[in-house]
Amino acid sequence: MRTYYCGEVRKEQIGETVTLCGWIDRRRDHGGVIFLDLRDRTGIIQIVSDPQRTPESYNDAETLRNEYVVKVTGRVTARPDDSLNPKLPTGEVEVYADKIELLNSVRKQLPFQVSTADTEPVREELRLKYRYLDLRRDRMSKNLQLRHQVVKAIRRYLEDEQNFIEVETPILTRSTPEGARDYLVPSRVNPGQWYALPQSPQLFKQLLMVSGVDRYYQIVRCFRDEDLRAERQPEFTQLDMEMSFMSQEEILQLNEGLVCHIFKTLKGIDIPRPFPRLTYAEAMERYGSDKPDTRFALELVNVSDLLKDSGFKVFSGAVAAGGTIKVLPIPGGNEVISNVRIKPGGDLFKEASEAGAKGVAYIRVRDNGEIDTIGAIKDNLTEAQKQELLERTGAKPGHLLLFGAGPTDVVNKTLDRLRGVIGRELGLIDPNKINLLWVTDFPMFEWNAEEKRLEALHHPFTAPHPDDLNDLKTARAQAYDLVFNGLEVGGGSLRIFKPELQQQVFETIGLSPEEAYDKFGFLLEAFEYGTPPHGGLAFGLDRLVMLLAGEESIRDVIAFPKTQQARCLLTDAPAAVDLKQLKDLHVASTYKPKEKE
Ligand code: AMO
Repeated sequence: MRTYYCGEVRKEQIGETVTLCGWIDRRRDHGGVIFLDLRDRTGIIQIVSDPQRTPESYNDAETLRNEYVVKVTGRVTARPDDSLNPKLPTGEVEVYADKIELLNSVRKQLPFQVSTADTEPVREELRLKYRYLDLRRDRMSKNLQLRHQVVKAIRRYLEDEQNFIEVETPILTRSTPEGARDYLVPSRVNPGQWYALPQSPQLFKQLLMVSGVDRYYQIVRCFRDEDLRAERQPEFTQLDMEMSFMSQEEILQLNEGLVCHIFKTLKGIDIPRPFPRLTYAEAMERYGSDKPDTRFALELVNVSDLLKDSGFKVFSGAVAAGGTIKVLPIPGGNEVISNVRIKPGGDLFKEASEAGAKGVAYIRVRDNGEIDTIGAIKDNLTEAQKQELLERTGAKPGHLLLFGAGPTDVVNKTLDRLRGVIGRELGLIDPNKINLLWVTDFPMFEWNAEEKRLEALHHPFTAPHPDDLNDLKTARAQAYDLVFNGLEVGGGSLRIFKPELQQQVFETIGLSPEEAYDKFGFLLEAFEYGTPPHGGLAFGLDRLVMLLAGEESIRDVIAFPKTQQARCLLTDAPAAVDLKQLKDLHVASTYKPKEKE
């Protein structure tokens, strides 16, 4: 049918007769000469038709409209010097159309202009409802192709260089413990019983290690019913991996190799190795976050010991209650951040209070080196404390010091948030920088205040650090995350492979042996039959591709994503079903629509 893709034609084809197929991106009529931009997934090429040179195609060219589907046969010609288009890879040539065959027309009014020559922004709801049109556009078409290339690079590396095999695991399964809500599927043939869609293939991949698969990977869909954000979808894709007989160090090394391979193949970039590492404790201390964006400095300084006895009650009270006082020092902050922004009603105050803080105390270092404060801090810092504060924070004239004081998690969350907002505002983040780092030594457990019990931070199969076995409650885990410019793109751990230790971990999270057996009996039993030491991790494929594509939402790298309300606007799912279907499934809905007023 065709001899080239539109975007492939170059000077080398001049003189050749080619056949191209695609969509009319735009049609321009220049006083009797018709120019058509013909588009397919590889790009755009200019087609020309005029009554003198190509009389046969001219009448057909006149009837064409945007997005008509055509097949064009014509001669590749050099463009005249004054109409070269350096923006297009095909910009040195054009095709004089001998024949234009209309394969299909557009019968309805287009909901938006597909051509990206039209720079009018299109509302996301419209893009999602007519996703097939949106995917024709250059940006989305490139993102889909990039995603495919990433998957291809992953497969090549893992299969050809590292001996991994891909194994599929079930979608209709039992609940997997990743901490989100499950999507459930009722069973028709087993009345009253339900499958859960996997939040990850965690349990199956561990079983595959018991089976001797040794190196498993899968590009796999995962389902989590949680609140959605730009980097979260209810169904998303993981690159999931599990390996036997490997140390944590070997697993990290192998994955650095994989990530470097992806960057090299797709971007031609050599990422320096080894990737920097921070322990969880260090990351929290210096950045207030377990996924710090290290493209810019603005590090936090802990001054709890210095100010714990200050007369300023907010400070002393915070430490006395087991909390922390930290400073976010901002060079040149005096110039850009006014008092109004930090006080109640201001934008930075709002950021802080959304993170749970009651307020933000601050100090300004004036040009003469004097420090300037407001209210209660002013009268309650000794000269020695002031001096030490300046020294520890490296504050110079022009510096603004923002304080967080209170429960450690709130202080960290607040200052992390302010750090991000201010870093962006001051233009400290170089968008071309690629910072990859491992965060290691996560705690095994965190306190669930609602349920008043410890819960596994990662999942309950994560192995504790061998040095911390004496007190599991406070133990570090052999768990690691890969952070890419402040976003968690992957995470994993070494697993527990001895039943006795697994039992202890279940006890620590308040799971009785009966409950544990009820939930994970099949895994615990498998562990009785000779389980190799193993570990693994999973990358969020959508997030990885999003960052490689320079996009800000994973929706832009997923062909058919869902909205914040977990809806598919294209198919209008979820939707009501027939009562008969529910009956067959032994399900009755308790939902009562609100009565209209
Ligand atoms: P975890 O829960 O950390 O680990 O998930 C791994 C990675 O998946 C991505 N991710 C998401 N991406 C888009 N939308 C979501 N809702 C979403 N949730 C998670 C993140 C994350 O780093 N079984 C373990 C892995 C292991 O231990 O081997 C797991 O699923 O990038």
